[in-house]
Amino acid sequence: MSQALLDIRGLETAYGAVQVLFGVDMEVHAGEIVAIIGPNGAGKSTVIKSVIGLAPARAGTITFNGRDITREAPHHIPALGIGYVPQGRIVFARMTVEDNLEMGAFLIKDNAKRRQAVEAVFAQFPRLHERRSQLAGSLSGGEQQMLAIGRALMLDPKLVILDEPSLGLSPKYVDLIFEQLVGLKKQGRTLLMVEQNAARALELSDRAYALELGRNRFTGKGAELLANPDVRRMYLGGYGVRTGSAG
Ligand SMILES: Nc1ncnc2c1ncn2[C@@H]1O[C@H](COP(=O)(O)OP(=O)(O)OP(=O)(O)O)[C@@H](O)[C@H]1O
Ligand SMILES: [Mg+2]
Repeated sequence: MSQALLDIRGLETAYGAVQVLFGVDMEVHAGEIVAIIGPNGAGKSTVIKSVIGLAPARAGTITFNGRDITREAPHHIPALGIGYVPQGRIVFARMTVEDNLEMGAFLIKDNAKRRQAVEAVFAQFPRLHERRSQLAGSLSGGEQQMLAIGRALMLDPKLVILDEPSLGLSPKYVDLIFEQLVGLKKQGRTLLMVEQNAARALELSDRAYALELGRNRFTGKGAELLANPDVRRMYLGGYGVRTGSAG
């Protein structure tokens, strides 16, 4: 049995007196794309925030790469090999594309190595290279998302965690971002993503977890969940459900 790269067991998290996660279990194995789906307020972002220390677990354990990170402070997380792309395409609007990427590599003290990391991201996202001197705030939404992803790659993370990477993007950019996520997987990276766009997320995920009211509801291979009528009805708005009588 291979050990999970990220292993979440019995996670309980609260904001003050309000508990929002009630014993969530999740595993992410090396090389997988794993999706977390579920309605607004189900606790998807909170799972991610617990992993990266922004919403510390009240109970349960979180293990990454064999190390207990349950009580790890957020500022230790990047150096451990976890890249984080927050919800809402957060970029430094008044800084250039290039400086935004540099900010993702603040831990690399060696200038030459930091440059190498910037060039590696530019090689992967030629569009960012074209706009390297442009202020991030003047990029389109899809380009800003690309930049946020690129910045999370600067420290060459084993695991990339993305919160709603396609939210608010035009269909063209949604396609592009999802293609890039598949590209990251092909490079051997491991991805954990929260997605409202559950149908698309399940199509490209190896496995997925559907959360409801802070608990695991459905778990399985992306394709299995996509084929599950209950999942379709509850999370995909009846997406692709065919009835026998329909013409
Ligand atoms: N900082 C906070 N303080 C208090 N309550 C919070 C905080 N962040 C989230 N919550 C609450 O925790 C619950 C879960 O929120 P969370 O953001 O994890 O949901 P989500 O599944 O990511 O939803 P969405 O799809 O809307 O992003 C919600 O009821 C939310 O109001
Ligand atoms: Mg969220």
